[in-house]
Amino acid sequence: MLLPEQLSSTRGLLSLELEREEGRERAVLACLFQPGTDAADDARLRAALSPEEAAVAARYQLPRRRGSYLMGRYCAKAALAPLLGENDLRRIGIHAGVFGQPLVRHRSGAPFGVSLTHWDTGAAAIAFPDGHPMGIDGESPNPDRLHTMSLSLSPEEARWAARSPLLRTTAAWTAREALSKVLRCGLMAPLEFLAIAPPAEADGNRGILEGNYAHFTQYRFVTLFHQQAVLSLCLPRRSRITGVEAIAAVEAQVESSARLESA
Ligand SMILES: CC(C)(COP(=O)(O)OP(=O)(O)OC[C@H]1O[C@@H](n2cnc3c(N)ncnc32)[C@H](O)[C@@H]1OP(=O)(O)O)[C@@H](O)C(=O)NCCC(=O)NCCS
Repeated sequence: MLLPEQLSSTRGLLSLELEREEGRERAVLACLFQPGTDAADDARLRAALSPEEAAVAARYQLPRRRGSYLMGRYCAKAALAPLLGENDLRRIGIHAGVFGQPLVRHRSGAPFGVSLTHWDTGAAAIAFPDGHPMGIDGESPNPDRLHTMSLSLSPEEARWAARSPLLRTTAAWTAREALSKVLRCGLMAPLEFLAIAPPAEADGNRGILEGNYAHFTQYRFVTLFHQQAVLSLCLPRRSRITGVEAIAAVEAQVESSARLESA
């Protein structure tokens, strides 16, 4: 059995306060930093899967995709476990909806949602109350992808990104993808619809950038510049979020959470 209590002692799990005029909510962010190819045959990650999920994983022939599936499922379950009060990650089902969006299945029927992301060297998930939609996207800043990502920038975004092209373009890209997950459209929508409104300067001390979207003004984004990845969260504009600063300390490796073994 996998114990979320043990998980929470790793530094990959952050509890986030969401403050709104009408009250407080809680979301949980889970991160894992490990190359997807290494994760592909990791028994500790596989032990978190339900039998149905294990069957899905077995169908992925490419180690990289199998690894990303395992890491994404693991992060999603780890983030949901404290909210659901569940002690066994295998009992939290993460199914795929018709657009590929993750759907939470748990016997409690408790109303929580999850959004997840994986990149070449890690994965992350945010679990949130169903009534407070959120999305997440992460990328490791990769100079080889800079040109492709920059092609989608609006003129305003491009001007803003010019000051620090790789980090800012990756930030804009992940903020857009996080919104696309909230909307469930993914990148099937015209990319300019997802554009960000270039924000004020990043708060370099906190390693956090906050901004709005050019068109979907009811949402905003918070981008975290972690040493291993650029991670963006999309959330309702009027929600204040606290706790994300701790991302700087997150170095969760599967190795460092070796306690997470099935008993
Ligand atoms: C959503 C999307 C932008 C993510 O792209 P990405 O950067 O390659 O991948 P990430 O690792 O950041 O995120 C992948 C996760 O996003 C989630 N996701 C996929 N599609 C999603 C959607 N439409 N809405 C919300 N979340 C979605 C999944 O959980 C997926 O991980 P999983 O397949 O392991 O469960 C991309 O997959 C996309 O554009 N999908 C749209 C495809 C679509 O609508 N198809 C319709 C088919 S009819």
